[in-house]
Amino acid sequence: MFRRTRVLVALWALAAAHPYPDAAPDATPDESPIVTTPLGQVQGSVIQSRLGKRIYAFRGVRYARAPINELRFHPPQPIEKYEGVYNATVDGPLCPQPGADPTSEDCLLLNVYTTRLPKGDEKSVKRPVVVYLHGGGFYSGGAASYWLGPQYFCDQDVVLVTLNYRLGALGFISTGEKDAPGNNGLKDQVQALKWVQQNVESFGGDPNSVTLLGYSAGAVSVVLHMVSPMSAGLFHKAVAMSGSPTSQWTIPHEQLELAKKQARLVGCGDATPADVIKCLKSKPANEIGQSLPKFQEFGLDPLLIWTPVMEKDFGQPRFLPAHPITLIQNGEFHKVPFLTGVNTDEFGYRAFDIVNNQTLLNLLNDKWEEKAPITFWYDRNTDQSKMVSKALKAYYFNDQPLDKTLLANLAQLYADANAGFGVNRAVKLVSEKNNQSSYYYRFNYQGRYSHFYTPESNNTQPYGVVHNDDLIYLFYISKLFPLFKENTPKEVEMVTKLTSLYANFAKFGNPIPTPNDKLDNVKWEPFTPKTQKYLDLGNKLTVQEKLYEKRYAEWEKLFPLEKYTKHSQG
Ligand SMILES: *[C@@H]1O[C@H](CO)[C@@H](O)[C@H](O)[C@H]1NC(C)=O
Ligand SMILES: *[C@@H]1O[C@H](CO)[C@@H](O)[C@H](O)[C@H]1NC(C)=O
Ligand SMILES: *[C@@H]1O[C@H](CO)[C@@H](O)[C@H](O)[C@H]1NC(C)=O
Ligand SMILES: *[C@@H]1O[C@H](CO)[C@@H](O)[C@H](O)[C@H]1NC(C)=O
Repeated sequence: MFRRTRVLVALWALAAAHPYPDAAPDATPDESPIVTTPLGQVQGSVIQSRLGKRIYAFRGVRYARAPINELRFHPPQPIEKYEGVYNATVDGPLCPQPGADPTSEDCLLLNVYTTRLPKGDEKSVKRPVVVYLHGGGFYSGGAASYWLGPQYFCDQDVVLVTLNYRLGALGFISTGEKDAPGNNGLKDQVQALKWVQQNVESFGGDPNSVTLLGYSAGAVSVVLHMVSPMSAGLFHKAVAMSGSPTSQWTIPHEQLELAKKQARLVGCGDATPADVIKCLKSKPANEIGQSLPKFQEFGLDPLLIWTPVMEKDFGQPRFLPAHPITLIQNGEFHKVPFLTGVNTDEFGYRAFDIVNNQTLLNLLNDKWEEKAPITFWYDRNTDQSKMVSKALKAYYFNDQPLDKTLLANLAQLYADANAGFGVNRAVKLVSEKNNQSSYYYRFNYQGRYSHFYTPESNNTQPYGVVHNDDLIYLFYISKLFPLFKENTPKEVEMVTKLTSLYANFAKFGNPIPTPNDKLDNVKWEPFTPKTQKYLDLGNKLTVQEKLYEKRYAEWEKLFPLEKYTKHSQG
């Protein structure tokens, strides 16, 4: 009896949190659903969700003209219509990048997944839309369903949209001149959001409830959309997971030196910015994409190479007119419910590559002031830079030379520098000026599966909870992990928790509107600069406060906010 009551209570709580109708059990057995959008007809396919629902999947849907030939290095151009029935039954290619196959420069494609399509003229199906922006340092990654399988998220009655945007030089080249001011990859994302506004209703999505959810470079993008004049009105809630541009790295006005280097790497001259653009336009896209590893300067670092820029004003629509920290501090951002956080160890796993490689270890010890700014993303060769390097060495290593015994210290520095500090600063700044709730979390669940296993365990045991590990429970990543079913109850429990939290946020702007058994009866209070509450997502969900307060205070001291109030417009 007791058991049954508990189950009923849990079901009731779940039902209360889902005002939207359930997946239509009477879905037609049509294996190739066709949807009529304002741009024309789109044909998809059917795949199964984790719980056996039919997911109508539309993959490789074009949302902008092919950015090829004369359109390379140009902002995205909208499309007018689809010719005939658009075939969206298989994954499209990824944008050019190292190591992926297939890729194509014609990659401005998105995927739409839902378990319920409107029937005939029915307009009543209006589910919240979650638009996912992938990570990969602005030079890798993509929306293909083998990385971002919808099998978990789509059990939650949302419409899921995943998308490609241009990467590396093809997406972010910025010479600081009129013909290449920068940010094309981010403008692609804006174009995709416009496509969602115009077309998602045909897929049963609500264009007035769009949640932008981004990871890593995608999270950096989300925070930039919050301050971008181009993104106004295109989304209604924002989730930035494990990344933020409110960090110590400098957002430049151009990346001309990088553009010149790109030119040289593929055999182009670099005498003038115009030469660079002209010659790069004649090179195969794939050659440009594949050249990325040659930008690495210290082992695999820096992990961030091509970045967004504060565009110079040539009269063009600018994606980013000023520094996001300045804009947020001035209250000049789209006021939407905001959710952000990090994983416990983030990029900490990168420490193994260094302590297990005598060459890198020696270099870091002998040339700390030269190498540390590359790896930990701050200005190089200035007095300020030297001061920061000294301070980090004192704080994280107690001024000891690096060796294996300091692995955990180096891992902590990686975690804070390349994710934690920027995200912490984002939630503080946004919650200070937002008139909507801001939520903060730490993902601290170590399961059997991870994106990094220790070499000591012959790559079988996870090291901590690293970057991307929470994505294991939000998306079916068939490239790396199995589909979690009844025989993996721990993983299933985390899938249920995470997809519920993010779907609730997409529906209500609140990840736990009603505490319930499934979410450990926890009450997740919003973050405020004063209380600094966060949800700790471990074996159990618990509310804690002041995440890594001492560590982040050190960074606040080294990179004071005053700097951003002084220099504002670019
Ligand atoms: C859609 O494209 C895929 C891949 O090229 C192909 O296998 C399939 O037959 C096409 N479907 C239709 C209806 O044309
Ligand atoms: C150590 O790092 C250097 C410099 O990146 C690299 O060339 C070398 O292959 C690495 N050694 C091992 C064993 O991974
Ligand atoms: C929040 O502020 C914006 C303008 O900054 C305003 O349009 C909106 O109505 C406000 N929302 C609430 C809930 O106060
Ligand atoms: C380590 O793993 C490899 C590949 O799975 C296996 O061939 C090897 O025997 C393992 N070594 C040890 C010491 O377990």
